[in-house]
Amino acid sequence: MSARFDAERLRGEFPLLAQEINGKPLVYLDNAATTQKPARVIDAVAGYYRTINSNVHRGAHTLSDRATGAFEDARDSVRAFINAPSREQVIWTRGTTESINLVAHSFARGRLGAGDRILVSGMAHHSNIVPWQLAAQAAGASVVPIPVTDDARLDLDAFRSLLDARVRLVALEHVSNAMGTIHPVAEIIAAAHAAGVPVLLDGAQSVGHLQVDVQALDVDFYAFSGHKMFAPTGIGVLYGKRAWLEAMAPYQGGGEMIETVEFDRTTYARLPYRFEAGTPHIAGAIGMAAAIDWLGGIDREAAARHEDELLAHALERARELPGFRLLGRAPQKVAVLSFVLDGAHPQDVGTLLDQQGVAVRSGHHCAQPVMSRFGVPGTVRASFSLYNTHAEVERLFAALHKVRSFL
Ligand code: ALA
Repeated sequence: MSARFDAERLRGEFPLLAQEINGKPLVYLDNAATTQKPARVIDAVAGYYRTINSNVHRGAHTLSDRATGAFEDARDSVRAFINAPSREQVIWTRGTTESINLVAHSFARGRLGAGDRILVSGMAHHSNIVPWQLAAQAAGASVVPIPVTDDARLDLDAFRSLLDARVRLVALEHVSNAMGTIHPVAEIIAAAHAAGVPVLLDGAQSVGHLQVDVQALDVDFYAFSGHKMFAPTGIGVLYGKRAWLEAMAPYQGGGEMIETVEFDRTTYARLPYRFEAGTPHIAGAIGMAAAIDWLGGIDREAAARHEDELLAHALERARELPGFRLLGRAPQKVAVLSFVLDGAHPQDVGTLLDQQGVAVRSGHHCAQPVMSRFGVPGTVRASFSLYNTHAEVERLFAALHKVRSFL
């Protein structure tokens, strides 16, 4: 076990974790759905509302200047966090889903014709399938999945053979929410680029676990959400290569995204504001900067090792549990345990775990195609974060043994 990483100390910074649920100390293992927030983030959001709440880029008054400064500083924090080449390439959105829809609408639609294809991951979240279907249907194009191997990897040979002249875009998740698989995205991006095809990565499940460098990845678009990296809900980011962003039409019309408006003609604002119609989630952006600042004080490699150790511990305990079947056995994965218990419906397992204070997600995890691939309606998913402990792994399996005996 990692001596250098003190998850016990760290979890003390998360007020929500110190509570009982159903009479038991909470074991929060639904981090792939959303992570909890450290006091630093909660205080930053509250501090904004207490002291500088005001609209950004608009007012000729001190509070508005302060809010604008904090909001734009937050953009700089995100730029550094993902190593984007410039702040203009960091676009605020409501989250990963909106970021993907923005690219589907403003980038994909105009580039698709009849017979064209968008390659997606066979284990994609619905938010990285449906926006492409909407764009493809309008053009007579199609969305084609990259097949999934029995151990929940993407089949790279199949990917290479699908990568033909019909493909206009590859869109896949960096890390699978349903299986935990970390895809070899650098290899996939290099292959796609060699075929002249741009790549969008859904980073929702990676930013809370891995350090992301969009320039090293050479990725064309990177979408992610604040709430899966210890920041508030309702704030997210789209990163894009400058040449693509500059060539893209606006996504939504409204205030903030214009330069001049007349009734017969509007000119649009420069990047990134062109894609930021309406009053943004100012507090969310400030909370995101606080989360980045907080993450900056953590040894992320040690945190990743700690999470790997939690997963290894859980897998060891799983071997002792009768009827436990793990889905997602990829060698490269984050600490996500997606499983079924023979003879038990995942929903019932989730409810019985909750009664023992253990929070997991059960169901299809918004990834129905991969559930079909493995012939299950859904799974139970325990997803770990850096503040989880080995004692919580023991609590999970003690609770699962009880579930086993009830069912
Ligand atoms: N996409 C999130 C999850 O996997 C909500 O739970």
